[in-house]
Amino acid sequence: MSEGKSTTGGGAVESVQQETRKFPPPAGFASGAHINSMEQYEQMHRESLEDPDKFWGEKAAELHWFKKWSRVLEWNLPDAKWFIGGKLNACYNCVDRQVDAGQGDKTAIVWEGEPIENGQPEVRNLTYNDLKRETSKFANVLKSLGVKKGDRVTLYMPMVPELAIAMLACARVGAAHSIIFGGFSASAIKDRVEDAHSKVIITADGGWRRGKIVPLKQNVDDALEMTDVVENVVTLKRTDNEVAMKAGRDQWWHELMDGASDDCPCEEMDSEDLLFILYTSGTTGKPKGIMHTTGGYMVYTYLTSKYVFDLHPENEDELYWCTADIGWITGHSYIIYGILPNAVPTLMYEGGPNFPAEDRFWDIVERHKVTKFYTAPTAIRAFMKWGEEHVKKHDLSSLQLLGTVGEPINPEAWMWYHRMIGSERCPIVDTWWQTETGGHMLTPLPGATTAVPGSATRPFFGADVAVVEKDGTEVGPNESGLLVIRKPWPSMLRGIYGDRQRFIDTYWSEIEGFYFAGDGARKDGDGNIWVTGRVDDVINVSGHRLGTAEVESALVSHPSVAEAAVVGIPHEIKGTGIAAFVTLKGGQEPTDALKKELIAHVGKEIGAIAKPDQLRFAEGVPKTRSGKIMRRLLRELATSGEVKGDTTTLEDFNVIAKLKGKDEG
Ligand code: WTA
Repeated sequence: MSEGKSTTGGGAVESVQQETRKFPPPAGFASGAHINSMEQYEQMHRESLEDPDKFWGEKAAELHWFKKWSRVLEWNLPDAKWFIGGKLNACYNCVDRQVDAGQGDKTAIVWEGEPIENGQPEVRNLTYNDLKRETSKFANVLKSLGVKKGDRVTLYMPMVPELAIAMLACARVGAAHSIIFGGFSASAIKDRVEDAHSKVIITADGGWRRGKIVPLKQNVDDALEMTDVVENVVTLKRTDNEVAMKAGRDQWWHELMDGASDDCPCEEMDSEDLLFILYTSGTTGKPKGIMHTTGGYMVYTYLTSKYVFDLHPENEDELYWCTADIGWITGHSYIIYGILPNAVPTLMYEGGPNFPAEDRFWDIVERHKVTKFYTAPTAIRAFMKWGEEHVKKHDLSSLQLLGTVGEPINPEAWMWYHRMIGSERCPIVDTWWQTETGGHMLTPLPGATTAVPGSATRPFFGADVAVVEKDGTEVGPNESGLLVIRKPWPSMLRGIYGDRQRFIDTYWSEIEGFYFAGDGARKDGDGNIWVTGRVDDVINVSGHRLGTAEVESALVSHPSVAEAAVVGIPHEIKGTGIAAFVTLKGGQEPTDALKKELIAHVGKEIGAIAKPDQLRFAEGVPKTRSGKIMRRLLRELATSGEVKGDTTTLEDFNVIAKLKGKDEG
């Protein structure tokens, strides 16, 4: 485990500290915004904390409930219950409600596939009527496979409309989905289906990514060689590549859908019934299944979507696009669950940002006339590197608002986004939140908050975010501390699936009485919060969360490896890159071929995102006298090739000298 505190936020942190430029909401924007002054924000924020029952009771009433709650909140640290006794259905709020309101013909999802043929991409528009019919049919398919309320269904799919249909169909029947990002490997699938006891997997023959087919069904087949919990696999035909179908276990999506009835009423779910599990990385080798329930999550993601992206369904041109994959929390909350209840069309894009060329995103913005655009700092840094010419080719005048999520944004990237993409007229919302928080916790409100490049600014309504010392007292202005949340909020995680103790240890034991986020931060004299990055052994690679311990266990699972130590290092595009130090078992030769093999092995064990950028062979890794790996030293070494820091607790000084002598890979 770790020694000391990391600053894996990388090189961005230094320049963040000095940023003083300020960007008040553009005048034209503020006048039409839901929240349009700081006074309004401050008053609502105060009310939301002082009287959560009143504030959230009123906001929750904007959604559809089969039965109203009897109490808004019950809080027994660390367990929150929201909208107690209330009955609702997430799919109903995303789909049926718009149909009932006479908006069945309105576009709900605009989808674009990756391949371009004869200059034309494949585009599909799905209306709320389409979604009602398709989710009902697929809900009946799920029922025919024996899926019942309370079951867990695994989704391992490309970014196609059927992924949205499958997740909403799960919600329709009251089954919790567990979505696995398509970049994860067979071993990752096996671990997750076993942890969730999921008997059904929905997948596809493949998905398109940078012109290549991602072999999703093949990965599922490989995973199921290692476990027998799964009884049924449903496969969507997307790429037409050949796949094996196992009799008695595997069926085609289209064949099952052909015979399915389109009548399937939404199950009435309790507000606290599980909506989904989403696995995310922590500080041990085993990912944790974060649990989100129905009522609080739906209310919070609906409201943050409305206010943070300033969504206006009455504006016929409104088209929102979040570039995340639905396999991550950003896609769950801000492609599907928060956006659809706002009755604003959400764009889904299947493929890579540089296929067939580096202007693909801007081509999409121009052709579809996207109004609100939400992406990650790592993508912005890649666009900066690819060059302005790709942006300048396109008319981006439809854009009204830009957002970022996933890691601290360096002010240079913020300024580039503001200038090149937003033409200096679009507000930028830098949203800090986590898989565990379900929705935005720190964020500017685009019509009210003065943005400062690099700061996620202020807490959203209901969020009591603070920067504190270990004993829970707030630090002074501009002092570094730990980011905590002091009061329950509607979309907070309800636990880790099957691991109560880990839930308590990870989030509720570090700082008494508060939720500990795992991030470091400081608050400036204006009250803006600056998140500086993780202070635990979680790293943020291209905005994707990984545990250093996860990568270490993957390396150690290789027969040649005795020990491995993994650290995050600053990386120009990824934000944080991965450096691995590997000690081989006796008799193993430290060859370049083995280096390559080990990097590939990590890809196979976890997924391509976890492949180390550097791998060095070491005769030993530096440890404290109590046996903890000294990651700080390794980070220094991997970053600068030098070790200047304090080595007084180091057990064997020779180790550092030996490490320095090694080549980097
Ligand atoms: C980091 C993604 C700074 C942070 C929604 C957090 C950020 C982790 C920001 C959660 C931001 C996310 N500024 N850091 N705007 N957004 N982070 O669970 O370290 O994949 O703890 O959720 O990403 O990552 P996760």
